[in-house]
Amino acid sequence: MKKLLLLFVILILAACKNSENPINKSLSKLGPTADSAMVVSAREEASSIGLDILKKGGNAFDAMIATEMALAVTYPFAGNLGGGGFMVYRKANGETGSLDYREKAPLAAYKKMYQDEEGNVMPEKSMYGSLAVGVPGTVAGIFATHKKMGSMPIAEILEPVIDLARRGFIVTQKQSKTLANYRKLFLRENRDTILFAKSYQAGDTIKNLQLAKTLERIVQNGKEEFYGGETGKKLIAYLQERDGIMSMEDLLKYQTHWRDPITVKYKGLNIISMPPPSSGGIVLGQILKMLEPYPLDEFGHNSLKSIQVLTEAERRAYADRSFYLGDPDFVAIPVETLLSDAYLSGRMDNFSFEKATPSSSISYGEIPIYESDETTHYSIVDKYGNAVAVTTTLNGAYGSKMYIEELGFFLNNEMNDFSAKPGVPDMFGLVGAEANSIVAGKKMLSSMTPTIVEKNDELWMTLGSPGGSTIITSVLQTILNVEEFGMSMQEAVDAPRFHHQWLPDEVLLEPNAFDARLLDSLKLKGYHIDQNESRIIGKVDAIRILPDGRLEGGADRRGDDSAKGY
Ligand code: DON
Repeated sequence: MKKLLLLFVILILAACKNSENPINKSLSKLGPTADSAMVVSAREEASSIGLDILKKGGNAFDAMIATEMALAVTYPFAGNLGGGGFMVYRKANGETGSLDYREKAPLAAYKKMYQDEEGNVMPEKSMYGSLAVGVPGTVAGIFATHKKMGSMPIAEILEPVIDLARRGFIVTQKQSKTLANYRKLFLRENRDTILFAKSYQAGDTIKNLQLAKTLERIVQNGKEEFYGGETGKKLIAYLQERDGIMSMEDLLKYQTHWRDPITVKYKGLNIISMPPPSSGGIVLGQILKMLEPYPLDEFGHNSLKSIQVLTEAERRAYADRSFYLGDPDFVAIPVETLLSDAYLSGRMDNFSFEKATPSSSISYGEIPIYESDETTHYSIVDKYGNAVAVTTTLNGAYGSKMYIEELGFFLNNEMNDFSAKPGVPDMFGLVGAEANSIVAGKKMLSSMTPTIVEKNDELWMTLGSPGGSTIITSVLQTILNVEEFGMSMQEAVDAPRFHHQWLPDEVLLEPNAFDARLLDSLKLKGYHIDQNESRIIGKVDAIRILPDGRLEGGADRRGDDSAKGY
């Protein structure tokens, strides 16, 4: 009888825990699975092209090159030749590394270039038009990858991409809407119509013949085609005709960097992520380390206590980001201290579950300007066991909106990621200091967080996201959703997210996903919640290795994202 009673109590307790955490009830509904290899990206065509390369025997790095360029064709919102990005990889033998192909400030850039005579920041100047454009890194990135890691000839890798540009891709419902949203800006910035300013309905085909030609020349002439050849010359001429400051010297001097990734332990996981000039790895690592002592699984997914403790860890990590982080080739960053147990264990000392810590007690406050923008992330695992996580961007949606019709691609507005003036927020509301000030040839600080996770020292997950400042917290929550809250990869990617970044002192929550009582409890504890700011947070594309060795994809429901495997 006693035993029965005990069982009854245990069952009731389990039921209570689950009612706080509804996701656990439907334990692990798997996303798409595959036995050998997988690509998850923002577009079906790009995932398929990457997968075809893998099926042909190419490795994850060959597939990276194909997927990156296929996104430039089908997803010009963020896929690009005129932008930059970061790749984190883990080879089958356990070796890890990262590639920085981030854009740079042109040599003629200077600290106060976005300030008027009175020192007021003119935000439009770093968001639109020729002055917003950083020296692109993507073409250098794919060639660096090919040189060090590729196994197939570049012509063979890019053939299906060139074909796709020529044959055309089908416009999706979501894509027709975003193209319509940006049409006015395309016309304003280009002072003419462009291929993407036409009116497209879902189901229409867009052929980008100019991009096909550019890619063909790149196949023929290699990296130099972009950094000095016909493509480079046309790019510089285009910018200079529009009062730009980028010169051929900028292109000739552009360099990618192989960098040691940031590696942080969280319980039984090794988190391997992007080092500066991205803030992603350090900030993600800091947050995880601050969270480690708390029993998140007991608190429950998106429960009051989980939201509080994540928010408070995020507040402290983003405050550090703002002061310490920038391009490591220009500023000294105390990476070891920022990630040390000694430093981080003290950071949460003044947190209590009773009351929110005001951001002003950590530092000063500012008002943000939010724009809904895009970057794109894709994850690949090949049959050999190599894994890559790549996040690539033009910064804003379609970057600076400047499109070189003759070459078939948009140019970035990455210069907005610099701190135009200490304490003045960028378009993601992020504030920066001297460490991220504009200097000729310097790389602007990023939040992109391509990440690979090992469990028991074996490959376990590859993931990342777009979303500006919300990238780091999206990646964080996706890892925790699987590790702490027992979700499958697909559920983890789809679960509602929230975000905090120190300044502004508010918690951003996805629309229609958090109940009113929970929000009231947060408000009572002093958290600022602005429901009008409510918006989609991140768009994660991930792959997890299941215990039986199969791969599970997580393609974010928020976009047209697609997982393809075999
Ligand atoms: O590097 C960064 O952090 C930003 N340029 C990323 C921009 C982005 O994710 C836009 N997408 N929502």
